[in-house]
Amino acid sequence: MKAIVDRDECIGCGLCEATCPEVFEMDVDNIATVIVEVIPGEYEDGAMEAQDECPVTAITVS
Ligand code: F3S
Repeated sequence: MKAIVDRDECIGCGLCEATCPEVFEMDVDNIATVIVEVIPGEYEDGAMEAQDECPVTAITVS
């Protein structure tokens, strides 16, 4: 699985990093970035949760 953050949609709430810091990290512009090429199996649920929780649906996990 991979994760993508739409930087134009992200409002920098930080929820994804709080939910799954192994996959998401806030950058210097306070926009979420994906820090792994492929999501390790043990973090897939967390990444999906972050996708579901993002208030502006900026995250796509597939
Ligand atoms: Fe941005 Fe959504 Fe994460 S608004 S900081 S991608 S939860």
